[in-house]
Amino acid sequence: MRNFDETTITDAVLERVKAAKNDRIRQVSEALVRHLHAFIREIEPTQAEWEAGIDFLTRTGQMCDDKRQEFILLSDTLGVSMLVDAMNHRTPAGATETTVLGPFYVQRAPEHPLGADISGPIEGTPLLVTGTVSTAECEPLAGAIIDVWHSDDDGYYDVQQLDEIGEFAMRARFRTDENGRFWFWSIRPAAYPIPHDGPVGKMLEAQGRHPWRPAHVHFMIAAPGHRTLVTHVFAADDQYLDTDVVFGVKDSLIREFACMPAGTAADGREMRRPYHHLNYDFGLKADTDARRAEERAA
Ligand code: BEZ
Ligand code: FE
Repeated sequence: MRNFDETTITDAVLERVKAAKNDRIRQVSEALVRHLHAFIREIEPTQAEWEAGIDFLTRTGQMCDDKRQEFILLSDTLGVSMLVDAMNHRTPAGATETTVLGPFYVQRAPEHPLGADISGPIEGTPLLVTGTVSTAECEPLAGAIIDVWHSDDDGYYDVQQLDEIGEFAMRARFRTDENGRFWFWSIRPAAYPIPHDGPVGKMLEAQGRHPWRPAHVHFMIAAPGHRTLVTHVFAADDQYLDTDVVFGVKDSLIREFACMPAGTAADGREMRRPYHHLNYDFGLKADTDARRAEERAA
């Protein structure tokens, strides 16, 4: 087959990828070709526009290293990460809704005892975080592992200032107590712009969009027999809740970071100055596949 033109090229490519031995690869390849060709037919790029598109993807790849993943940022800002997340986490009643992981998660963050202050050398308005972890049926989950991480009140994570502060801060692991409860102290996070000094930042600018995320605290919660929950809790008074650059906000994940006067806090700590209090009760979805594997192994 040769002499392809606008009317025959799509079918020719579709015919060629049918050779894939793996069914899923064939399905994905066919859909990719169909949608990509439809996109090109719709926008009819000039040769210069095609080159600019290739250059954009090249610069996106070149921006990636072990600290910066510009392709995930592209997926996040085009709503693809939240679409994939939504399709993979259709949550039953009682289970907390999920949202994007983001680039600032660190595996094996230091574990702290319940009640610890994890703000380290970072200053800000004190924030008490309390809550519970339960099954979707409201049974408390003891010993669940909670990873938390958030930005400071200038919108920077510890990993963006490690050279200056020299240690992890506003990031820790906790284990829930026998009643599924957890509590810790940190500082109130602020809204922040996602890294926008690369091709994704240029794209946002060209699309007339801002790069901001509303203030939030990230949580990753794991317990045996349950699907690991990746989510955040957003501050109810934030100006970016409706325009989050990565489309991650859900009503069920918004809470007041309540202003509290000086005095005895909910965990018994004496506070000499006002602080904020965030409470969230999480529900984890049962992982039926993991349960079956555990039962088989027992
Ligand atoms: C974050 O919340 O940490 C985040 C999520 C997606 C892109 C950039 C940052
Ligand atoms: Fe974040």
